[in-house]
Amino acid sequence: MAHFVGIDASTTATKALLIRADGQVVAVASSEYTYETPQPLWSEQHPDLWWRGAIDSIRQVLAQSGVDPADVKGVGLTGQMHGLVLLDVAGEVLRPAILWNDQRTAAECDEIRQRLSRERLIQITGNDALTGFTAPKVLWVRNHEPQVFARARHILLPKDYVRYRLTGDYATDKAGAAGTILFDLAARDWSPAVLAALDIPAAWLPRTHEGPEVTGVISAEAAAVTGLKAGTPVVAGGGDQAAQAVGVGAVEPGIVALTLGTSGVVFASTGQPFIEPEGRLHAFCHAVPGRWHLMGVMLSAAGSLRWYRDTLASGMGFDTLLAPAAAVPPGSEGLLFLPYLTGERTPHPDPLARGAFVGLTVRHTQAHLTRAVLEGVAYGLRDGFELMRAAGLTEIRQVRVSGGGAKSPLWRQILADVLDAELVTVNTTEGAAYGAALLAATGAGVYPNVDTACAAAIRVTGSTAPGPARAVYESLYPLYRNLYPALRTTFDALGPNL
Ligand code: XUL
Repeated sequence: MAHFVGIDASTTATKALLIRADGQVVAVASSEYTYETPQPLWSEQHPDLWWRGAIDSIRQVLAQSGVDPADVKGVGLTGQMHGLVLLDVAGEVLRPAILWNDQRTAAECDEIRQRLSRERLIQITGNDALTGFTAPKVLWVRNHEPQVFARARHILLPKDYVRYRLTGDYATDKAGAAGTILFDLAARDWSPAVLAALDIPAAWLPRTHEGPEVTGVISAEAAAVTGLKAGTPVVAGGGDQAAQAVGVGAVEPGIVALTLGTSGVVFASTGQPFIEPEGRLHAFCHAVPGRWHLMGVMLSAAGSLRWYRDTLASGMGFDTLLAPAAAVPPGSEGLLFLPYLTGERTPHPDPLARGAFVGLTVRHTQAHLTRAVLEGVAYGLRDGFELMRAAGLTEIRQVRVSGGGAKSPLWRQILADVLDAELVTVNTTEGAAYGAALLAATGAGVYPNVDTACAAAIRVTGSTAPGPARAVYESLYPLYRNLYPALRTTFDALGPNL
């Protein structure tokens, strides 16, 4: 039977996943690494880590499974979005990649808004300039490292550096490319207007492809080190969020993917480009041809619970910690938690935002604090839903949850109540790499399109409906909403939280 490999070059590891054409997972391997913070607010990684991680993990899945490389009929790529990889004319890396979670480019975001106007930027790209995105990083290198910039000839995203090493091609996918904000969202290609305004040569940018399109084949050199067969097709794949959505089957309008990992992501597929007028949601292309998505990113979701456990309940397992919180009444008897422990992106793009417990009294126990953390994260995710509704996305039929936090039935119930939506779980838990492998299977013609691939491989395994607590949360949500505006001047005065 034909097999497919999905490769995810993430911030913490490069993972390879081998599936059969019917979607069954055969082998998974990953190779871990860290990132550097050479200065406050900076976050960097050498592209070689992803390439070495890809070689290791591909070799491992081939060895573990015993699958003949000739039976691997396609490879799909995904990875951390927005990172800047700069190469010289010979394809050599010029400096460490500047990652999605790097915050050094506030001045360059202002420069972009000045050069283009904020309105025009949002109108063309669907997004405001945020420090995490790629375009301000290009300007930062021009402004601060002119000697590096002078030698630059190619701009790539992290997973596309892996593609370059696998195939020798400079290419990317439309979902990832949209996350550079050098992209015309509606036209699904680089924006000549944005490139001209920012004075970035179009020739430095890779070709863009829809997710299942073949961008090249495994070279003889890459075959020798990875064990894959030379000539195996490699498809465009997608940025990690779009590939993750494919991996849980959130591909059609009305279906939302909610990922409760360290960060919390609300991802809604759309049939046409929707834009939040203030740019408070990310509007990118989907990895599904001809579709788009709106996305809200909360920086500390399950990350808030982990911080809370590590700091205030050290040594406790999550199940032991969460069990007594189920007996606390919804609303935690007047205790609210603000989850901005690492600043925030949606709905407040504010690196200075901080976390808070508000409403503490002597009556509150550890169980109240625990429940308040779960509820605060749920309110923060609801903010993303509210922005989507306001942007015109009124039809949300189903929310597909995944990520470590979604394993808790209590947290799922709180989310269903706060969001007032039915939450479902699915059988696929391997995330973005799984989506990339399905895109490869689609590109190889096993499935006529991504919808069919998802329908064949993914099924709903459980459901949580909103319950009676819905009304309590409905009345408390406005109080949560009031907290950020009330505390903002304090956060500003306290300064950076990193
Ligand atoms: C998406 C984003 C993160 C990174 C990290 O906008 O910044 O999901 O891709 O993996």
